[in-house]
Amino acid sequence: MRVSCSAPGKVILFGEHAVVYGEPAMAVAVNKRTTCTVSTETKNTKVNGRNIQERYHSYILHSIERAGIDMPLNIETNSDLPSGAGMGSSAAVTVSTMGCLKNLSAEIDEKEIARDSFEVEWDVQGGASPIDTSTSTHGSSILLSNQRLSDFLWKIEKEKERWYAHHRDIPAVNIVVGDTGVHSRTGPLVRKVRSFYEKSNFARDIVKEIGEIVKKASTAFSDENLERIGELMDENQRLLSILGVSHPKLERLIKGARKYSYGAKLTGAGGGGSMVAITERPEKVAEEIESRGGTPYMLESTPDGLITVDA
Ligand code: PMV
Repeated sequence: MRVSCSAPGKVILFGEHAVVYGEPAMAVAVNKRTTCTVSTETKNTKVNGRNIQERYHSYILHSIERAGIDMPLNIETNSDLPSGAGMGSSAAVTVSTMGCLKNLSAEIDEKEIARDSFEVEWDVQGGASPIDTSTSTHGSSILLSNQRLSDFLWKIEKEKERWYAHHRDIPAVNIVVGDTGVHSRTGPLVRKVRSFYEKSNFARDIVKEIGEIVKKASTAFSDENLERIGELMDENQRLLSILGVSHPKLERLIKGARKYSYGAKLTGAGGGGSMVAITERPEKVAEEIESRGGTPYMLESTPDGLITVDA
């Protein structure tokens, strides 16, 4: 048996890091994807021709364990998402793999895949929120919140936290991402913020403030008020840098992008990785990013979340 699934990357527009503590966040699925193909016709489990190893294939290994599959599998992945750049490559590989593994025995159930993929990210990263995996599973745009709102999709609980995922229509904006080229790892950054959060009232206040910004941003998206969205992005960035997850190269790209944008901020875990800008002039923003040593991506949002493709 052979199955193949594809899942999109994502860009977090608001709320990264704070969302780990149950605050709201917004992300949009983008037109860069990972495709995974799983075949049961093999004697040993291999990933892209190599024996599976925790060190190189942690998300896939944990997905196999969580799906409870106990047979050799030949797994191939293909991705147009750069890794460690804040565009959700680990969520896309996890969701597309989980889609294949579940599809070996049953129809794809979005809610189940979103939950299991979140658990995989949690295990591998040592803490996570469901924003990346829910967006990659569902597509379009996702608002995570600590309360149930309109267009509710699913609830995910872990330890003390509870998140409600909601469908949101794709915001009508041009998205430009700038990759600093500074490789960053989500797990260590999440743990760094956690130790600050656990020790300091100030850090907890910053996290709450980020949550307030996301609520305002959600209203600004409903009102299609791009100026307001931009202001809120800049404010979100200021708070993220206080949390210690920005990077000089991110600040440089953000400063350049802001000349032609409504707003710009880091996206994803930070510490390097990428920034995102919302703009009417994507080419100009891309030029600024490039002239400051970054790699620009002019992205389009996509309604397509996890889909099965011909194997
Ligand atoms: O680095 P990324 O793109 O996987 O984004 C991480 C976002 C965090 O809020 C920092 C962690 C999480 O799981 O929500």
